[in-house]
Amino acid sequence: MNKKIGMFLFLICFAPLVHSQDVHIIPAPASLKMLKGQFVLDKDCSFKLSPANDDLLRISGFFNDYLKEYYGFNLKNQGSGKQVSLTLDPGLDNGDEGYKLTVGPKGIAISAAKAAGIFYGIQTLEQLLPVTPGAGELPIAALDITDQPRFKWRGSMLDVCRHFFPVSFIKKYIDILAMYKINTFHWHLTDDQGWRIEIKKYPLLAEVSAWRDQTLVGHSGTSQQYDGIEYGGFYTQDQIRDVVKYAADRYITIVPEIEMPGHSSAALAAYPNLGCTGGPYQVQGSWGIFKDVYCAGKEETFQFLEDVLDEVMDLFPSEYIHIGGDECPKDAWKQCPLCQKRMKDNGLKDEQELQSYFVTRICNYLTSKGRRLIGWDEILEGGIAPQAAVMSWRGVSGGIDAVKQHHNVVMTPNDYMYFDHYQSRDTKNEPLAIGGFLPLQKVYSYEPVPEDFTPEEAKYILGVQANLWTEYIPNTQKVEYMLLPRLDALAEVAWSSAGNRNYENFTNRLVKEYGRLKMLNINFRDHRK
Ligand code: ACM
Ligand code: ZN
Repeated sequence: MNKKIGMFLFLICFAPLVHSQDVHIIPAPASLKMLKGQFVLDKDCSFKLSPANDDLLRISGFFNDYLKEYYGFNLKNQGSGKQVSLTLDPGLDNGDEGYKLTVGPKGIAISAAKAAGIFYGIQTLEQLLPVTPGAGELPIAALDITDQPRFKWRGSMLDVCRHFFPVSFIKKYIDILAMYKINTFHWHLTDDQGWRIEIKKYPLLAEVSAWRDQTLVGHSGTSQQYDGIEYGGFYTQDQIRDVVKYAADRYITIVPEIEMPGHSSAALAAYPNLGCTGGPYQVQGSWGIFKDVYCAGKEETFQFLEDVLDEVMDLFPSEYIHIGGDECPKDAWKQCPLCQKRMKDNGLKDEQELQSYFVTRICNYLTSKGRRLIGWDEILEGGIAPQAAVMSWRGVSGGIDAVKQHHNVVMTPNDYMYFDHYQSRDTKNEPLAIGGFLPLQKVYSYEPVPEDFTPEEAKYILGVQANLWTEYIPNTQKVEYMLLPRLDALAEVAWSSAGNRNYENFTNRLVKEYGRLKMLNINFRDHRK
């Protein structure tokens, strides 16, 4: 790049942040220009919505709720004088999620082609407000922002199986994602240690599969002690509908995950016929990989899973449905006459290909209903249907292979995106974690598109996602502690252009954001500790 242009870009992207104490937008916007002067937001300001449709009314309501809760005042719905205008302008050319935000001496203007962009403009505006709880007058430096995301899948997964979290917290988690312009919540709903979604046709999933007798105390690598306390819970379908709407109102798609063919002990505990041996099986109280998996030879298994997926698809409008597919031991299949018969009848040469048969069959079912399958990178083994998308978790090689085969990919490599790993090498002074070491800077350094990809190949990378497995995360305080601030780093990887990322600049902004997290009563781990 020409040096002068480089300097110019540097100045518009970074230099103003140094001079303006209150501007600490995360993820960094595509373009930010500081202007002269400031605007003071107070109760004499009013909204101007164009058009005053349901979307803009709802979004302005969110902003008013935020002002009321943290500053104690509201804006009027209409009036003359100082204005916060929200404008849908189909002529704007910065995509379905992009927006423009101008703060000038007379008012604030947010415009976007789509309502999602207006919502993101409001998230940015909330970050621009001084962290002065209860203040009735909020000075904001004049500026001009034009912004849009780099990736369309900006995801965060939460495992509610190893530990269960109430709807009130799921909503708080969604609020946190929305603050950082994350648009995909991957909800890991079934696993060996608990089934968390009510399925009307199979009531024992809620009565039996949602409950375990006891839970391992300490780390599974060193402990064999159990607490002897029954543990569990599930979401009713009404609760799920409510959460799906809550997320959609915040421009977040929920991608549900129903694990198969492995990680299925909890389902088998209630419906043992679905396993190769007929059981008995138990809802597991410890962590790891279990050999109790769905039988791939029985038609009953596919009937059950299709029925479950029918109810799941009724609840979740998401284009993608996650079917797990990871860590499925083949021991039971090797011993099972029905699984072996299935292999013979279909000319499958090994159990790997039987897994491929399983996933392809489910993929075809989802496709016949107008949905798309996504699964962990093991679904590549033995071959997969062309419509399937892959979540690359065992490093990035699965993602790269999948792109070479023209599958869509979400990058979530365990060495950069597993937020259950320790945040410090000083593990004695950290709460118990599964292991690993994933400091903030490493998350921030992640580049989702491999260097040698052609632009054509890069198009298959839908985006990037963080995963929070909860074996060692028994409460919501700790979820927040493990999530933040690494989620801020992920958000910037997912939203901001690669050239607009700078770790020092990011951490300067982050330190100011810590003040806001405190105001919002959200726990986090200060990366300077
Ligand atoms: C995984 O972490 N087993 C996807
Ligand atoms: Zn079998």
